[in-house]
Amino acid sequence: MDTLKEELNQRLDELLKPLKDGLVKEAMHYSLLAPGKRLRPLIFLNVLRSYGLDYHLYLDVACAIEMIHTYSLIHDDLPGMDNDDLRRGRLTCHKQFDEATAILAGDALLNLGVNTILNIPIDDHLKVQILNRLYEASGVNGMIYGQQQDIAFENKQASLIELEDIHHHKTGELIAVSMQLASLIAQPQDYEYWSQIGFDLGLAFQVQDDILDVIGDQEKLGKKTGSDLENHKSTYVSLLGLDESQKLVEKLFNKCYEAIYAMRINHGLILELLTMIMKRVN
Ligand code: IPE
Ligand code: IPE
Ligand code: MG
Ligand code: MG
Ligand code: MG
Repeated sequence: MDTLKEELNQRLDELLKPLKDGLVKEAMHYSLLAPGKRLRPLIFLNVLRSYGLDYHLYLDVACAIEMIHTYSLIHDDLPGMDNDDLRRGRLTCHKQFDEATAILAGDALLNLGVNTILNIPIDDHLKVQILNRLYEASGVNGMIYGQQQDIAFENKQASLIELEDIHHHKTGELIAVSMQLASLIAQPQDYEYWSQIGFDLGLAFQVQDDILDVIGDQEKLGKKTGSDLENHKSTYVSLLGLDESQKLVEKLFNKCYEAIYAMRINHGLILELLTMIMKRVN
């Protein structure tokens, strides 16, 4: 996993090189190359590998996913959204630079994701399918919808159904799409299986995030704890409490494990990834 992450970081760095020098490029580099987990690209690449595919041709799809994710974090941290000062163990983009630069750096990363995929030398039809699904997942029917609802439910408690809808979109979509895109490339018949696993994993991941916001170690997390409480967010912890939230996370991971075992793939890679996520402290 570590070498793959290293390869990703090198490629992300390379993809930024041709951009015009200036504050926006600096901010993009600062946030994109900050020490994040690179989870979504790792999921995408390992699903490809679980079918025995050479992932190298698709490394830039993985990079585009990370660009979109990083843009979402930069904007999520802005004063108009979660107003956070710390991210990936560093000052948030708008604190290190300024708000205008952070907004533009986010916009530019979202943009760069499109060009990065357009430049991959693969079949045009597949390319269009990848772009279509990826930008649907991050758009107003996907992640952006989730972020809209997350803000709409500040200061009022969402019901379980409403909360599941928020988490499904704000976090589930980008995790699920990382599996869906790999499935489109490697084995389109398995698309629905990966969608289900992706959304279950996405929900587990965001409930974990809600838990870590309360009991996590700020130093290890690289972001401030207590942010949800401060922003009066609707979270699984605020609705169900810590114990029930933890039980739900376990249940969702078990569901993912079972679904993976039932597939005709090299299970080891995906199981390693799931275990890594299940035990995460950041
Ligand atoms: C943070 O995502 C935002 C959520 C969806 C909870 P990650 O926990 O994957 O953040 P990085 O990429 O490792 O910084
Ligand atoms: C963010 O959820 C999901 C995104 C789309 C970025 P959070 O607001 O809980 O993520 P953190 O805790 O700031 O990383
Ligand atoms: Mg948020
Ligand atoms: Mg946030
Ligand atoms: Mg959070």
